[in-house]
Amino acid sequence: MFVQRWNRTLLTGAFLGAVGLLMNARAGEASGTPTLRELAQQRGFRIGAAVAMPLLDNAEYRQTLSREFNLCVAENAFKMESLRPARDRFDFQQVDRLCAFAQTNRMKLRGHTLVWHQQMPWWLSQGHWTRDEALGIMKDHITTVMQHCQGKVYAWDVVNEAISDQGPDHPIRPDSFWTRVVGADYVEKAFEFARAADPQAILYYNDYSNEGMDSKSEAVFQLVKRLKAKGLVDAVGWQCHLASGWKAGAAQARNAERLAKLGLDISITELDFRISLPVTPKKLQTQAESYRSVMRFCLSQPNIKALVMWGFTDKSSCVPYFFKGAGAALIFDEQYQPKPAYEALREELTKAK
Ligand code: XIL
Repeated sequence: MFVQRWNRTLLTGAFLGAVGLLMNARAGEASGTPTLRELAQQRGFRIGAAVAMPLLDNAEYRQTLSREFNLCVAENAFKMESLRPARDRFDFQQVDRLCAFAQTNRMKLRGHTLVWHQQMPWWLSQGHWTRDEALGIMKDHITTVMQHCQGKVYAWDVVNEAISDQGPDHPIRPDSFWTRVVGADYVEKAFEFARAADPQAILYYNDYSNEGMDSKSEAVFQLVKRLKAKGLVDAVGWQCHLASGWKAGAAQARNAERLAKLGLDISITELDFRISLPVTPKKLQTQAESYRSVMRFCLSQPNIKALVMWGFTDKSSCVPYFFKGAGAALIFDEQYQPKPAYEALREELTKAK
């Protein structure tokens, strides 16, 4: 009896000791080298990454994602092509999976994107529709998707890339399905439907090459100014698919400040810095300085709420597909090892308080 009890005490003691050691190791890890997520959290800042849904089956991918980021967005799963196999059918399987992942890991989730002229389902893009039919489909889509995700998705890219690259005026893309069938006012309609569908959600207009001060960002500015006057938009997304070497500067600051004056927030929504291959240590250093400049810039502008990268590991990035001969655009390498860019982000988040 005595011996048994003594044994139990010894075992319990050994067990508690082991737990204590483990906890100390964890605490040491956490205090010694805080993650990007922990550092961002301390500042009330959001740092995010786009998720390639098939990779969510990989434990290392999942662990890195939830350890380093407090925000995520689907790379493709929320697009109309993925969600709408048919006019009368919604497939929410992947969306629900990401919502559950974000909830379990206490991460914010962005919705990308409700209305875009790309990655549309063929039954829609190849069909013949009147303006009213197309508007009806758009309204049904926005309302159903936003209400399905209500309380789980905090912000939506309501319209993506509506403004054309043709200067000096950069009209709403005349060749887009939505402009051809509905007219240029489809943008405003989309925001009206979105506002009505979920009044709590933060509504974004998202585009590329709109972070500087030039004719395209001017066109974006004028568009969001009109929408804001009607209470339809809350924020602007700057995609920022950029070439390594790029640095945030005075133009971005002026742009951020004029949007702030309108009462609009900004998020960097799709950041990556592509390197022309092959990768060298020097190129990785240049890339790190680009990432550093964007983080420093974000933390210096009160209306910038999040920095989201278009992925996080070089194992999965759309860059090599879109830019021939370029790659290695993200902050972890293909083996999930942090690159110099990761360290640069961490240094900036540590410094700025
Ligand atoms: C890209 C995805 O990363 C690819 O997997 C897909 O094949 C095409 O779309 N701007 C956007 C994103 O708004 O939705 C795009 O994502 C990249 C450019």
